[in-house]
Amino acid sequence: MIDAHGKESIVRQRYAAGAKEHADKLCCSVEYESVYLKVIPREVIERDYGCGDPSHYLREGETVVDLGSGTGKICFIAAQIVGPKGRVIGVDMTDEMLEVARRNAPIVAERVGYTNVEFRKGRIQDLALDLELLDQRLKQKPIRDSVSFLAADELAEELRMKHPLIASDSIDVVVSNCVLNLVEPKSKRQSFEEIFRVLKKGGRAVIADIVSDEQVPEEMQNDPELWSGCISGAFTEEGFLAAFEHAGFYGIQILKRDVNPWRTVRGIEFRSVTIEAFKGKQGECFERNQAVIYRGPFKDVLDDDNHRMERGRRYAVCDKTYNLYKKAPYREFFEFVDPIVDVPLAEAKPFNCWHTALRHPKETKGQDYRLTSEPKSQCCDGGSCCW
Ligand SMILES: C[S@@+](CC[C@H](N)C(=O)[O-])C[C@H]1O[C@@H](n2cnc3c(N)ncnc32)[C@H](O)[C@@H]1O
Repeated sequence: MIDAHGKESIVRQRYAAGAKEHADKLCCSVEYESVYLKVIPREVIERDYGCGDPSHYLREGETVVDLGSGTGKICFIAAQIVGPKGRVIGVDMTDEMLEVARRNAPIVAERVGYTNVEFRKGRIQDLALDLELLDQRLKQKPIRDSVSFLAADELAEELRMKHPLIASDSIDVVVSNCVLNLVEPKSKRQSFEEIFRVLKKGGRAVIADIVSDEQVPEEMQNDPELWSGCISGAFTEEGFLAAFEHAGFYGIQILKRDVNPWRTVRGIEFRSVTIEAFKGKQGECFERNQAVIYRGPFKDVLDDDNHRMERGRRYAVCDKTYNLYKKAPYREFFEFVDPIVDVPLAEAKPFNCWHTALRHPKETKGQDYRLTSEPKSQCCDGGSCCW
């Protein structure tokens, strides 16, 4: 059986070799947008080990982290999409990958006319620890015995706190392309917690990875070739979505799922999916007399805070849920009903989010609302359907 450290070493060795020359069997063919490839040097494009294109979902001005950035292709595409007002940070643990990415960064910067990409050395399950900084300090105080080992452990903790590789709540979008499957099993959960930690409230993860349609058996997980080849460490399709849910994300959805498997091994299909998930459902709930109506087309829906809503009915929601629903990915599915008399947030009382209640129209209009009005000349928001 290969232990956790063994799995990570195998991955490092295989991708160190893959950084020097193109390695077969390490990637699916992906159609990146050709307009962005023009400025990217050939060796970067040739040593592509991705399985999807998370950069496709980025927007101008965003601060992006790419986990397991390899030779930097997704970072260099992202740099052009987010533009000079945005920033891109690639993180990888393999020196040879970082060397290729860093050597090509100034070439891309010159071609696009600005510098907004950098590459940092770290493990995606521990995005606080800057491995280059740790290496520097360990040169001054090498580990020789148990005492210096414990001191090094403390040093690592101090670096995480005082000089984090990626600070908490600092990133708009975390992307990754074919990397989470390579994280050894014990650290997989921590990788999701780290993605969650570094994102700002309202930020999102867009992750492309290989998933399996059945659980991968133990003997396949102990095959070094299959492990480092993005096969044996794959989540199941439902396990991948559940990992985002357990880390506290909401609005999780499959943006892309390849119909055809990339590989089939012993009857198990391995295919690429791209998932989007949002951070920001945590926080206090306040009552501002707001209501929402689920528009359909499904008969009912259940969100990540366990609000179940039937199509067409008017539900009471707290201010936090109301504002979450007003944004992607929910916005298009809801109608929003504001109270006639606004309840300022500073005066709002706590809202009980544990059960989903209907909201009578009188609550939004006010119990004493008795208006009778003449027909409006335009009944349909600017149209002329009444005349
Ligand atoms: C399959 S390649 C994908 C590279 C790149 N994302 C692309 O699209 O070409 C996996 C990359 O993730 C890096 N990697 C694997 N496990 C890692 C970990 N735990 N922490 C940081 N980097 C990791 C490897 O060094 C390698 O560069």
